[in-house]
Amino acid sequence: MIRFYTAGESHGKGLTVWLDGFPAGLELDVAFINHHLARRQKGYGRGGRMAIETDEIEILNGTRFCVTTGAPLSLWVKNRDYQNWTDIMDPMGQAPDGSDEKAFHRPRPGHADLAGHFKYGHQDLRNVLERSSARETAARVAAGGVALCLLRAFGISIYSHVTGVGGVEVDRSTLPTSHDAIEARAESNDFRCAGPDDLLTAMKARIDDARKEGVTLGGRVEVVALNVPPGLGSYGQWDRKLDGQLAQALMSIPAVKAVSLGDGFLGSQVDGSQFHDAITFDADGRIARPTNRAGGLEGGVTNGQPVVAEVVMKPISTMLKALDSVNLKTGQAEQAHFERSDVTAVAACGVVAEAMMALTLANALVEKLGGDSLEEMQAHFKATLAHQPCSVAKGG
Ligand SMILES: Cc1cc2nc3c(=O)[nH]c(=O)nc-3n(C[C@H](O)[C@H](O)[C@H](O)COP(=O)(O)O)c2cc1C
Repeated sequence: MIRFYTAGESHGKGLTVWLDGFPAGLELDVAFINHHLARRQKGYGRGGRMAIETDEIEILNGTRFCVTTGAPLSLWVKNRDYQNWTDIMDPMGQAPDGSDEKAFHRPRPGHADLAGHFKYGHQDLRNVLERSSARETAARVAAGGVALCLLRAFGISIYSHVTGVGGVEVDRSTLPTSHDAIEARAESNDFRCAGPDDLLTAMKARIDDARKEGVTLGGRVEVVALNVPPGLGSYGQWDRKLDGQLAQALMSIPAVKAVSLGDGFLGSQVDGSQFHDAITFDADGRIARPTNRAGGLEGGVTNGQPVVAEVVMKPISTMLKALDSVNLKTGQAEQAHFERSDVTAVAACGVVAEAMMALTLANALVEKLGGDSLEEMQAHFKATLAHQPCSVAKGG
């Protein structure tokens, strides 16, 4: 079983990632993992913090010369901004004078600030902000990079693209027709949108307007996994259903408030004949699915089609035009605290969603193939593929 945990504060020394359950003999491609960390930092609408950080992993444990030994892995991503916060965020030693300089007491609606105050009794909401901040998603992308290294060894790839921001949405009929072309188009621009140029311009104008108004925007992102073998997940028990695992993994991303698998939301609008994917034979007599509204999952098990999910991100909570709040120290009604923030992070959210999908699929793959080593997993994969239902020929 693959498990991962993260630790680290937004302005602390850095982020720690602990991973367990990866097979021995897997080469971790550090440049590839760092490439995904860099993708998370980009995206039109992001704030000043991303100009300070250049995220890179250091592998601390579990490999020799970048090859896994089967031991638990740990990674480290340094926060460059920590040098500006040493007096405020030092995890050790005595608090120096002025260490409460960045304390705040006016919870920001939509953030964990007030709930964290109730839960842990913190008066200084800095103690809540530091861990609940989406800086933690850099650690998830680092972990996801390890999972992507494993998936890549089985030919599985994952991409994402922005499908909407602040109500400006992609018309799907204008998207390129192949997965490769959608991914290439998304990666070619700074908002990771695969739609035509005029849509990209309209999206950026919407973000510029929001910035001028001092407000923020949410949006939508589609994330797609290709070449996923059939038979991952299980309908045998609720917690083994891969659709449920994916929904939890994606919903756990900060600010994600809705997840659909395939054309999930269409289900309430059309009849079954317009929703379910017929089972046919292709020209070579192999089982085929002319549509993929199920998003590659039936009964919580992969069916050989691309796994497709869409996530909806709410507007960023920290706003220059702050909402009403209260001062927990003085008991007075005041505006919420403001701190450097993104106008929208929907492009980055896609990279985090890829990481969460990668970790979920990697776990399902390990469950399906077992194997303490990559070699063993690949041998099982070969044997399993030879019997996969998609290869059943007509009449066979
Ligand atoms: C990549 C990414 C970047 C984010 N950046 C910010 C930000 O700059 N400012 C902000 O207020 N919220 C940001 N968020 C969202 C908050 O972290 C999130 O809304 C908050 O922690 C409360 O959690 P919840 O929305 O899941 O309830 C970001 C989320 C993601 C995924």
